[in-house]
Amino acid sequence: MRTRYILFLICSFLIFRIAVVHSQTDKPLELWAPIPEWAYGYDSQPQLGDKPPIPTPGNRALQSGEDAKELSRPLTLEGSSATFSRQEIRHAQDVIDWFPEDYPPMAEIIKYGPEALRGGEPDWACGSCHLPNGKGRPSNAPVAGLSAEYMIQQLYDFRKGLRYSADPRKPNTPNMIRMARAMTEEEIKKSAEFWAAVPWTRRYNVIEADLIPKMYLNPNNNMFFTVGTEPTEPLAGRIIESPIDTYQVDYLRNPRTGFNVYVPVGSLAKGEELVTTGGGKTIQCNICHGQDLNGLDMVPPIAGRSPSYVMRQLYDFRQGTRNGISSQLMKPTVANLSIEDMTNIASYLASIIPSSSGGT
Ligand code: HEC
Ligand code: HEC
Repeated sequence: MRTRYILFLICSFLIFRIAVVHSQTDKPLELWAPIPEWAYGYDSQPQLGDKPPIPTPGNRALQSGEDAKELSRPLTLEGSSATFSRQEIRHAQDVIDWFPEDYPPMAEIIKYGPEALRGGEPDWACGSCHLPNGKGRPSNAPVAGLSAEYMIQQLYDFRKGLRYSADPRKPNTPNMIRMARAMTEEEIKKSAEFWAAVPWTRRYNVIEADLIPKMYLNPNNNMFFTVGTEPTEPLAGRIIESPIDTYQVDYLRNPRTGFNVYVPVGSLAKGEELVTTGGGKTIQCNICHGQDLNGLDMVPPIAGRSPSYVMRQLYDFRQGTRNGISSQLMKPTVANLSIEDMTNIASYLASIIPSSSGGT
């Protein structure tokens, strides 16, 4: 009788726990406004209790059903004398060096990642996510041409828990934090000096549109791929950053390939007004970010950079998940901006051709 009673108590407790956990995960997070999910690479709102998936770096091993011959076939790319196989390209620790002439000799930390993480299971290298030329992908960050002192500050902010993503599902920011925590002082300095010496040259093809070609949101890399040819999908207030050539960007990891950026109709003029005058809601950006928005010392450049990245930063500053000492200077700037204002700003900034960039 006694054991049956104890069993009953245990079962009731378990059912209660499951119910509590379930209702917690159904609750939305406490966010100052619905998250611009498209900027984080999702199509739904995060919920309380959401966690990023456990990171699994791409590896060389064959998956069932894959064609070994096809995967080991040497691939080439126009303008490059290098060859890489798809197996090498998808291995996250291999930094695919198609155009070594685009940057100084690759620092060891960029090519192999933090020494503390080498030797065991395959892990990521800095240049695999951010690409060796520092152009990055919409889901991470464009790092070329940032000042070394600013990058060092960010790596410390990640390390100290002062910078993380407002969207708890986003898998690569915790990974970035893990990298920053594993780095030595010397590696922090070397990595920052390397990308500071690489000029920012990417151009975005910015298009105002109500309807865009059909997009596929790839859950493996949180990137939008263009699958339609005719404009049939409503843009609906989003900014969609999508490779001009998916095969080049995703299959070959060509770091020179550009992106189409679809922005809401009217956003460029509205964004320009906010950026250049403050529009009564914010502070004009060039006061701190420099006359041409190309950055000054600890203040990073914001002209002509990934709009998905810029949008996430504006949201993260406002949400308080970017909270380092210098970030306090951004707080009054974002305090009175709506999601729509931020979208307009990110659209306009992407359309600027940075005056410092010489290349394509
Ligand atoms: C798994 C992918 C990944 C790897 C590997 C990675 N990063 Fe990052 N990195 C990110 C993401 C994601 C962000 C932040 C994006 C965001 O805030 O939305 C970031 C941001 C940064 C920033 C801040 C840029 C800015 O403008 O503030 C720096 C600097 C940086 N990374 C340097 C490095 C260095 C150095 C390494 C190697 C030790 C590295 N990253 C490895 C994904 C990665
Ligand atoms: C009072 C000075 C100040 C003003 C005004 C200002 N910023 Fe900033 N901004 C900063 C500083 C400092 C940082 C670096 C924050 C950090 O270290 O975390 C920054 C960072 C940013 C970033 C993140 C860039 C990156 O690489 O991660 C974005 C985006 C940004 N600002 C946009 C803007 C926009 C848009 C405006 C105008 C509407 C603006 N800022 C006005 C000082 C300012």
